[in-house]
Amino acid sequence: MRAKIVAGNWKMNKTYGESKSLVKELKTALNGVKLNNTRVIIAPPFTNLQKVSKRTKDTVIEVAAQNMCAEESGAFTGEVSASMIKSVHVDVVILGHSERRAYFGETNESLAKKVDTALKNNLEIIFCFGEVLEDRKSGNHFEVVEEQIKKALFHLTSDDWKKIVLAYEPVWAIGTGETASPEQAQEMHAFIRELVAERYISDVAEEVSILYGGSVKPSNAQEIFSKVDVDGGLIGGAALSAADFSGIIKAI
Ligand code: 13P
Repeated sequence: MRAKIVAGNWKMNKTYGESKSLVKELKTALNGVKLNNTRVIIAPPFTNLQKVSKRTKDTVIEVAAQNMCAEESGAFTGEVSASMIKSVHVDVVILGHSERRAYFGETNESLAKKVDTALKNNLEIIFCFGEVLEDRKSGNHFEVVEEQIKKALFHLTSDDWKKIVLAYEPVWAIGTGETASPEQAQEMHAFIRELVAERYISDVAEEVSILYGGSVKPSNAQEIFSKVDVDGGLIGGAALSAADFSGIIKAI
């Protein structure tokens, strides 16, 4: 059975001290909560990764990096490699977030390279994609998502897919307070699962977790998560508060 996942992407928020407090609050908030096949992942900024990784050791909370360089090592000022991430006992990386695509020039092609490097280093990937508002308005959203997934992931083997988690994040719903309706999320998630089933054996499609991201809050999480092809969420703003994030986890 595929895992349910609630992942918190802290983006460029929380200093070192603030991250320690948030982890502490989160551990308290999750104390005694029955997770039933649900994974909880948090992705702090790089400066806090090692500390958060240490502080969550032996807890239910897993840690992810928010990005990674496609190159293994060398003269790439300001970048962080897959082996550096692994060296602080972090086994998951978020790739392809729309903010990376929009502000840092990441493309489907450059992401395919990052995906390969991550897998080579045995990192699990939360792979993000999603259409912008104009694509949704013009009815191109399925096409755009199909291209994002095909170009970055369809060269992988079925075995590689054991390390892939998909995260559908319609750009128009990120940080805007506007969520896709549960029906819109389900429709896209079912489309994605079908796409994967057509390319691979159906087991791969059945086993891959597909998360929804975009203005998920404790008040709307349950309805979104109730859809059969929605296996959890990638949470931004609401992941910065232990009460809200744990509320979303309880909703699943
Ligand atoms: P919000 O939950 O703030 O809309 O952000 C979603 C997101 O981008 C998670 O990666």
